[in-house]
Parts: sequence; structure tokens; C-alpha cells
Amino acid sequence: MPDTAPGTSGPRVDWANFQNEIYAAGLFGGAVPRLPTDLAQLEELAARRLPPGPVGYVAGNAGDGSTARANREALDRLRIVPRMLRDVAERDLTVDLFGTRLPAPLALAPVGVQSIMHPDAEPGAARAAAAVGVPYTTSSASSVPMEEIAAAAGDAPRWFQLYWPKDRDVAVSFLDRARACGYSALVVTLDTWLLSWRPRDLDQAYLPFLRGVGTANYFSDPAFQAGLAKPVAEDPGAAVQHFLRMFADPTKTWGDLGFLREHWDGPIVLKGIQHPDDARRAADSGMDGIVVSNHGGRQVSGAVGSAAALPGIVSAVGDRLTVLFDSGIRSGADMLKALALGAQAVLLGRPYVYGLGLDGRAGVDHVIRSLLADFDLTLALSGYTAPGELTPDALTRLD
Ligand code: FNR
Repeated sequence: MPDTAPGTSGPRVDWANFQNEIYAAGLFGGAVPRLPTDLAQLEELAARRLPPGPVGYVAGNAGDGSTARANREALDRLRIVPRMLRDVAERDLTVDLFGTRLPAPLALAPVGVQSIMHPDAEPGAARAAAAVGVPYTTSSASSVPMEEIAAAAGDAPRWFQLYWPKDRDVAVSFLDRARACGYSALVVTLDTWLLSWRPRDLDQAYLPFLRGVGTANYFSDPAFQAGLAKPVAEDPGAAVQHFLRMFADPTKTWGDLGFLREHWDGPIVLKGIQHPDDARRAADSGMDGIVVSNHGGRQVSGAVGSAAALPGIVSAVGDRLTVLFDSGIRSGADMLKALALGAQAVLLGRPYVYGLGLDGRAGVDHVIRSLLADFDLTLALSGYTAPGELTPDALTRLD
């Protein structure tokens, strides 16, 4: 693994060297990587090797999948225009995010129910992120309690993603627990007050939560348990019903954000923003950041590609908020494009989950190292030595 001091003192890593390691292993030991190095190929491999229910849950989208396709199209329409003769021998991928120096402009996106993919589950993914100092975002819907994931992350930076529950006591309890086990930033997801129409899951009648997966934070929570007539183990069906009733609250509006500020003193990041006016409201509400995201196209079918929404949002709030980006990131070039449009970091979603499914924690190591090596090389070959040098000038757009 690269030699890093996760998260704190400007860990500078020769990410591109992963390429040399791969070629050397082939030359001297005849070994090739266990997983593809083109991360876009992971979905197909996962579909061949893993059971259809779990793969369908990860790969599936809202409606006809057109938003997920739009995410890719929006990134593909942007093209990098490489620049020459700029001395790119030394590069520094580190960025400051919410007062922490990170090794690269990357975090792992919150993804729930990871035990459906591999028994290493969220702690495995968190260990892989921690090994390189990339923040891991624990989902409210994780398959093991947030405390176990925090322990796996050790000293590495970690964020907690809140699905804001209807029950106020459970919400407060989640925030207290997250603070107590060292999550530094709160990521509040705004696009999932209801579960969308997802044909791939519907056609298989497969929803992990109904099988008690993705409920670990709730079932282990004292405030949640207080609302049950019997302990979870004695009546798991009732516990699942209680979970479904409180999971989300579609009545929430902008005026409710004060509650979060009251109960969380660290950075608060709103995830799921796609409109500049919503971004402005986030800034006006005293939030610290946003994730420009459409949940990977899993919530609203027929929606705008996330990268197409990014420039308008950056011009609206780029000087007031930390702008993060996800939905469609599959390569170093995708990272470069999002950063050039003004995102300060990107969140990686499905590729690391496929890596987990295919090879456990080692698969997530592979995905993170591949992505960052690819990004480092693409940055250099495009004529840049640091994320901060990137501007929209690095790109042209195909019409
Ligand atoms: C997600 N995502 C998500 N987001 C969130 O805020 N909380 C969550 O629990 C989950 N769970 C989840 C499960 C699965 C299987 C997927 C694929 C996604 C959304 C995630 O954080 C991110 O926004 C998307 O994954 C980005 O899209 P791509 O790049 O993965 O296509």
C-alpha cells in the first residue's frame, strides 16, 4: 500500500506508481490484477459472478435508467484538452476539505446494505479507504452499526450520512452516536424521502431492508428500541415495520435544517442538490457544503445528468460552499472533469461496491488505487500537477 499518514499532515503519494507495481508483478511473477483496471468493466463482471438480487440492487436505477445514462453522457460530452511542456514530473493531489488535509480529492460515497455484496461489508470498505486516508462515508442504512465501521476506519477521516428519520429522538441519537465514534462531517441526504420506482428490484421482489439488512443502526439504537413493544430479536418483523415507518420524513422542508445545526457542531453537507437555487438555499441556511448528486440515477428517472447540473451550481455557490460531486464517476478522467468544473472533491459510488462484491476489502483497495493512479496520470498527461490548477479551461464540451 502507499505510505501515507491518513488525512492529517498533507500525505503526498506517488499514486501513479501503482501502474509500475502491476507491470512489475507481471514481469517477475507472471501475475495480473485480479480485477479489471478499467473500473467501468466491474459492473458486468459483478453481474456474471454475483447473485442477481444483490447485483440488481446495486446496479439498478429509477424507472428506465435514463438518469444513470444521462450521468455518463454528461461526463462523456465533456472532453479534456491536454496541454504540453509544463513540467508535470512532481504532482501533489492533496486537498483541504472541511479543515482536514486529504491525500486526494476523493471520498467513498455512502452506500448502504453492503453485506449483500460481501461479508467484509462496510468495515472492509472503510479499512480500504483508511489505508490510503480517503474519507469513508458511513450510511445510515449500513449493514453493521456505525460504531463497528468507525473502529475499522481507525484514525482515518470519516463522515456520517444521515437519512433523516421521522422520529426526532432517533435522529438525535444517531447524531450523538456518530459524534461519539469520531465522524467529523455530517452528510444529509435529501433525495430519498421515498424509495423510487426501481424495476430491477421490483421484478425480483428484492428489497434488502425487508430482510433486515441495512437496519443495523436502527436496531442497535436505544431510541429506536424504545419504540418497540418487544426486543428486535423477539419480533424482527415488527422491528422492520417500525423501521419502515420512521426511515424518512417527506414532510421536511428547508426550515427544518436548524434542527441539524442544533445537534451537530461539525460541518454539514447536503447531498442530492441539482438546482442552483437549492444550492443557494443551502448556503443561506448556513450549511458548509453540498454534494451535487442525483443518487446515481436511482431516484428520479428522466432527470438531468449530474455533471450537467454542476457548472450552474458552482457559479451560484462555489465561493460560499464546499461543492462535492457524485453520480457517474468511473475513471480518473471523470474525476478531472468534475474538478475542472469546480467540484472540490468527488465521491466514488458503485465501482467500489462492485470491487467489494468481487474481492472483499482487497477489491476496494484495488478500485481506489486504480482510480487514483488513473487520475494522477491523466492529470499529468493533461498538463497539470495539482487539483487546484484545474479550471473549466481544461475542458471543451461536445454539442
Ligand atoms: C447508494 N447511494 C446512497 N446514498 C446515500 O446517501 N445513502 C445510502 O445509503 C446510499 N445507498 C446506496 C446504495 C447503493 C447500492 C448505491 C448504488 C448507491 C448513493 C451513493 O451515495 C451515490 O450518490 C451514488 O452511488 C453515485 O452514483 P454512481 O457513481 O455510483 O453511479
